[in-house]
Amino acid sequence: MSAEIVLGIVGCGYWGPNLIRNFSSLADCRVRLACDADPDRLKHIQGVYPHLEVTEAYQEILDDDGIDAVAVATPVWTHHEIAKAALEAGKHVLIEKPMASSSAQCRELIDMAAEKHLTIMVGHTYIYSSTIRKIKEIVDSGDIGELLYISSQRLNLGLFQKDINVAWDLAPHDISIMLYVTGAAPLAVNCQGKSHINPGVEDVTNMSLNLSNGGFATIQTSWLDPNKVRRMTFVGNRRMILFDDNEPMEKIRIYDKRVSVPPHYDTFAEFHYSYHYGDIYSPYINQIEPLKTECQHFLDCIKTGQQPQTSARQGLQVVQVLEAANESLKNDGAKIEIDQ
Ligand SMILES: NC(=O)c1ccc[n+]([C@@H]2O[C@H](COP(=O)([O-])OP(=O)(O)OC[C@H]3O[C@@H](n4cnc5c(N)ncnc54)[C@H](O)[C@@H]3O)[C@@H](O)[C@H]2O)c1
Repeated sequence: MSAEIVLGIVGCGYWGPNLIRNFSSLADCRVRLACDADPDRLKHIQGVYPHLEVTEAYQEILDDDGIDAVAVATPVWTHHEIAKAALEAGKHVLIEKPMASSSAQCRELIDMAAEKHLTIMVGHTYIYSSTIRKIKEIVDSGDIGELLYISSQRLNLGLFQKDINVAWDLAPHDISIMLYVTGAAPLAVNCQGKSHINPGVEDVTNMSLNLSNGGFATIQTSWLDPNKVRRMTFVGNRRMILFDDNEPMEKIRIYDKRVSVPPHYDTFAEFHYSYHYGDIYSPYINQIEPLKTECQHFLDCIKTGQQPQTSARQGLQVVQVLEAANESLKNDGAKIEIDQ
């Protein structure tokens, strides 16, 4: 392969143009062909990138021997078909989150990529954000003590999807962040939810997750909320971290707050919790567009053959959680164990 990696992008809706912009800004790659089934989207792309070739049929990308890799930014139900065809054609693949519609589809793609020695990576973009990396650094340093639990809210009004529920749309980010920060695997999921707008498609869900390190996490997602909320709280037994992605500057706040129970007491009168209220501080974070770091990492993995930081295995784990959440939704929130 030459030093320059040549790419095709499938899907030019909301997210695909961000991939085109970021890959186009990198020195060691060239976007040759952009594909969308909707000619209006191609017209828009040609307006912004007049030199980019476009096509309505992704097969044209796969038939082009000069293209090394394909980025897939289409709806989730099309990911497996397009990624499988790309791997069969000998192309490296970056697939947007969630990786596929089922864990069986993810496993098939993992095996195909391994057999053909091709890079397969999943677009869990937050893992490339300096904010999330800072949170992992703080948690790993032991500064907040033992991580007791993580809670997350991802709420807004719309955009309603017809093919996937709100958990599949919004929770992949939270799940991938939780697994990355804790380094744990998901063990079991409970999920309750309700559809208010499109029958059978939940627009509000509440999920709880048990992790392999004994950790516990909750994720609330909604398309039916007046405010856009993007918040995660990492509660340690010494300190607590609040990540608010809507904050332009102070995305992380570390609260020196905790509750302690006295180690010894003889009478109920002696027993009382001790609440500690200390400082709140916000560490400086050098903000680089996470998608740019992600795109560069994909190119580096193709060149070196290294496993991506957001590998297809992580893509599979996220899909396993979502699949278990769907089963739990059908069974009134019952606990669903995840196949290890
Ligand atoms: N990493 C992130 O932060 C992030 C953010 C937003 C969306 N996404 C993911 O990106 C993917 C796309 O989401 P979106 O919001 O851009 O959706 P979208 O509906 O805006 O765009 C999808 C595009 O794919 C095209 N398409 C569908 N089937 C096709 C096919 N067979 N061949 C060619 N084109 C086809 C559609 O015409 C549409 O323009 C989803 O998997 C989504 O979860 C990731």
